[in-house]
Amino acid sequence: MNLPNMLDAKKRTKEESKILYDDYNINEINDLGKDKKYLILTYGCQMNVHDSEYISGIMEDIGYTKTEDMNKADVIIVNTCAIRENAHNKAEGMLGRIKHLKETKEDIIVIFCGCMAQEEGLVNKIKDYKWIDIICGTHNYHKIPEYLYEYMDKGKVCEVYSIEGNVIENLPVIRDSKYTAWVNIQYGCDKFCTYCIVPYTRGKQRSRKSEDIIDEVRELYNNGYQEVTLLGQNVNAYGKDFNNDYDFADLLGEVSQTGIPRIRFVTSHPWDFTDKMVEVISKCDNIMPYIHLPIQSGSDRILKLMGRKYTIKEYLEIVRKLREKIPNVSITTDIIVGFPGETEEDFQKTLDIVNQVKYDLAYTFIFSPREGTPAAKMEDNTPMEEKKERLARLNELINKYALESNQKMLNKTYDVLILGESDKDDKYMGYTDNMKLVNVKCDKELVGKIIPVKITGVKTWSLDGEVNDK
Ligand code: 5AD
Ligand code: SF4
Repeated sequence: MNLPNMLDAKKRTKEESKILYDDYNINEINDLGKDKKYLILTYGCQMNVHDSEYISGIMEDIGYTKTEDMNKADVIIVNTCAIRENAHNKAEGMLGRIKHLKETKEDIIVIFCGCMAQEEGLVNKIKDYKWIDIICGTHNYHKIPEYLYEYMDKGKVCEVYSIEGNVIENLPVIRDSKYTAWVNIQYGCDKFCTYCIVPYTRGKQRSRKSEDIIDEVRELYNNGYQEVTLLGQNVNAYGKDFNNDYDFADLLGEVSQTGIPRIRFVTSHPWDFTDKMVEVISKCDNIMPYIHLPIQSGSDRILKLMGRKYTIKEYLEIVRKLREKIPNVSITTDIIVGFPGETEEDFQKTLDIVNQVKYDLAYTFIFSPREGTPAAKMEDNTPMEEKKERLARLNELINKYALESNQKMLNKTYDVLILGESDKDDKYMGYTDNMKLVNVKCDKELVGKIIPVKITGVKTWSLDGEVNDK
C-alpha cells in the first residue's frame, strides 16, 4: 500500500520533471477487459474531464467497452475532485450508491481515483472500505491495467504517490467530442494559493514539450477537429520550468500556425499575463476572444492573505489591455466569498470590481477549508449565514452583467461552432467565438461546422439564434 502524504506532496525540488514516452505498457494484459464493460463517473474541472478521456482510452485499449448503465458495468471508475467540500459530498453520495450495488453484485470492481485519492485524511478513512477495490491517484492512472491485473490476482490495491510528478506521453485517448478537444499543455501548479488543494493533489508545475503539443493539435485538425482548448492550471506560466525563453505566447503563436480554426485556453493567472500574450491573441484570428481570468477577491488585503501575488490595480490593467486590443473579448472570472477574515468592507470591494469589470460570466464559491492548506488554519469569524448572503448578493450582480453582455449581442451575427443537440427541442447548441452558449434552429448536417448565426433571443445564461445565410 502506498498512501498519500500532504508533506511530501508539498515539496518542490529544483529537479526538472521527466517526460516519459514509454511508461504506459499493457503488453501481457491487453485483453483483460474482453467482453466486459466499464462505467466512468467524472467530477470536477476540465482537467478531470480530460483525464477521464485518457482513462477511457486505457480501458478500451485493454478490451473493455463503455457503458452508461451502472447495472451493466463490470468496472466502475470514480474520478473525483477535491477542490471544495461539495465536490467531496457529490462523490461520497455516489460511493453510497456503489456500496449498495456491490452488496448485490460482488464481482464489480470499483476504482477510486482523481484528486480525492491524493488526500491523506480521506484515503486513510476509505482505504479499508471493503467495497473499494483499487485506489490510485492523479500521477499514476495510466497504471490502471496493472492494478486491475494485480487486483484480480491478489486483491485490493492502493497506490497513491505524493510526488512532484512527471509528464506521461503516448496514452490512448477516447474523446467525448469529435469537433472540440482538450489538449494538456501543462500539469500541476506551484502557486500555492493559501486556500487551494491543487498544488498538493496534482504536483509540481510541469510543461509538455511544445513539439508534442503541436503534433497533437495537428493530428486533431487532420482528423476534423475544429477547436482545441489548451489546458493547464496556469497556462500563462507555460514553459517556465524549461531552461529556455520559450513561453506561452510563443506556444500560442505556433498552435495558431497549425491552422486549426479555433484555439482556446484555460486557466490564465493574472500573475503571469504578459503584454506579449495580449499581442499574440489580438493578432491571430484563430485564437478566440475569450479569457477566463480568476480574480478571487476585489480586496488587496484578502488577495494578500490568499497569496495571489497581484493587486487589483494590476488586475484592472490587464483587463484594460485586453479590452483595448481584442475587440469583442469576453472576460470571465472565479470569485471566492467568505475567505477567512473577509469583512463586509472587503466584500464591498469585490462588488465594486464586478461593477467595474462587468464580467460576461463568473463562477462564484463560498470558501471551503481544505485540510492541509494554510487557509484552513486561519481564523474565520464570519458565520455561514452571512457568507451565503454575500454569495447571493454577488450572484445577483454577476447575473445582471451576464444578461447585459448578452443583450449587446441581440440581432448581431456571430460565428458559432455547432456541437450537438440542445436540451431545447428541435435545436442544436454551440458556442460563439467569445464563448457564449447559443441554441440554434438548424439542420443536423451543420453539427461540427462553424456557421454564422444571428442572435434572436437573449437570456442570462444562453442565447437563441438562427442561421444567417445572407
Ligand atoms: N474554497 C472555495 N473555492 C475554491 N476554489 C479553489 N479552492 C477553493 C476553496 N478552498 C475556487 C477558486 C478557483 C476555482 C477553480 O475554484 O475560485 O479559481
Ligand atoms: Fe489553486 Fe492558485 Fe494553483 Fe489556481 S493558481 S490551481 S487557485 S493554487
